[in-house]
Amino acid sequence: MCGPENTPIVNALKKYIDDCTIRFHMPGHKGRKNAHNPAAELLGERVFASDVTNVPGLDDLYQAHGVIKDAQGLAAKTFGADFTYFLVNGSSCGLQALVMTVCRPGDKILVPRNMHRSILSGVILSGAVPVYFKPEYDWDYNIPLGTRPETIDRILDCHPDIKAVMLVNPTYHGITSDVPSIARTVHARNIPLLVDEAHGPHLHFHKDLPGTALEGGADASVQGTHKMLSAFTQASMLHLKGNLIDRQRLEAVLRLLQSTSTSYLLLASLDAARAQFNACGKEMVQEALDLAGYLREKINGIEGYSSFGVEMIGKPGISGLDPTKVVISVRGLQVTGLWAEKWLRENRGIQVEMSDVFNLLLIVTGGNNLSDADSLIKALRDMSDCVRQGGAKADLQGAVAQLNPFPGMPEMVITPREAFWNPVTVVPLQEAAGRICAEVIACYPPGIPVICPGERLTSEIIEYLTVLRNLGMHFQGCYDACLESVRVIK
Ligand SMILES: Cc1ncc(COP(=O)(O)O)c(C=O)c1O
Repeated sequence: MCGPENTPIVNALKKYIDDCTIRFHMPGHKGRKNAHNPAAELLGERVFASDVTNVPGLDDLYQAHGVIKDAQGLAAKTFGADFTYFLVNGSSCGLQALVMTVCRPGDKILVPRNMHRSILSGVILSGAVPVYFKPEYDWDYNIPLGTRPETIDRILDCHPDIKAVMLVNPTYHGITSDVPSIARTVHARNIPLLVDEAHGPHLHFHKDLPGTALEGGADASVQGTHKMLSAFTQASMLHLKGNLIDRQRLEAVLRLLQSTSTSYLLLASLDAARAQFNACGKEMVQEALDLAGYLREKINGIEGYSSFGVEMIGKPGISGLDPTKVVISVRGLQVTGLWAEKWLRENRGIQVEMSDVFNLLLIVTGGNNLSDADSLIKALRDMSDCVRQGGAKADLQGAVAQLNPFPGMPEMVITPREAFWNPVTVVPLQEAAGRICAEVIACYPPGIPVICPGERLTSEIIEYLTVLRNLGMHFQGCYDACLESVRVIK
């Protein structure tokens, strides 16, 4: 049974709502469900009443000394950090802040090619010089895996002036690397290991899950509390441990990057999510594990689908697995994941987390239930029947034949920051070979950049992008989402 937990921000917010009924301060709605506001109809009065920013008694995120300090302290204790910072601009902001904290212009940072685009934003903002490494790759599922410690060790030997190492752990697909060994390798050079743990805040709460980054020896981690626990969207946490990262500089950078009008809806949701999982996280994660296990077993029993599990552990780059991420390959049905995602949404009202050429990805949490799982299983059976009866227009066979391996790492001609500030021009993609790319081109999902700003476009890359474009993949973050044209350095 879950016990009561202290929630300093939630308590202070409740008190403010009860004590102060007349507000002559921001925000303009004054905490009331004013007439003619469609959002009020949707969200209800309580959301408006709770939507305050820094008022007396509610502390200040950037000079925390009261309830925020207490709530952050409780979170640090829960997650085993020396210091925890609540983030209101998403994990993106925490990752940007970490890169800006450890790198000055010209400093080298080792970053994975399966980085989230916010890491690249941090590189551009800081003026750091990225040294990229490729994670291991699974060609059956066509997904990036974790990273082998030897890979990191080898690159650090070649670049002894690297100032910090960034890792994505777990990956979007739930795969974890051997963080303790990587941490040892990195610390042998007396530099910090930073971990994008956007998909891993729940790892702490169950012994059957891989350990967290901090447990593995990382110096900092950024967790998407909104992604895997229960905080509101954009609410994340940044944890620090040890003394390899300058805490005062990090605080200065967070002040630089985040809004001054801190949302207490977000802060209270972080406080509450920590309390909820502290009290009953183990049970909630167990429910998710049971449900994900049930889904995996049933899905593997339906012809045309496959979903990997813990049997993958031990392959290169797979030190552990978070089974609550369920990857469903639809390759056997000869349809694309994109087609399957659309079919489930349009025919059954089921929305998955993401799809790519071969797969669907489900995120299962204690917020799901058996009825959700059974509805999905039935829908997958029906979709399989529909495909067999000729209901699928997408032809995966053609796609597989065309889909070359992920192209090699392009040549970096100038840094991402130089590319960002250089004059640019737009050229048709088919005429761009040899030009220096001015933008990130990543298929979203899974978001691994095929090319980053400052790198030279080659005909191999253009061919690869063209196949993905023709398959209907979505490109995020570039000038022309249809990828007919591309921004290059003038
Ligand atoms: C691996 C990874 N890191 C960081 C982020 C950014 O998180 P946020 O959306 O909270 O800014 C994402 C978002 O999907 C992600 O998948």
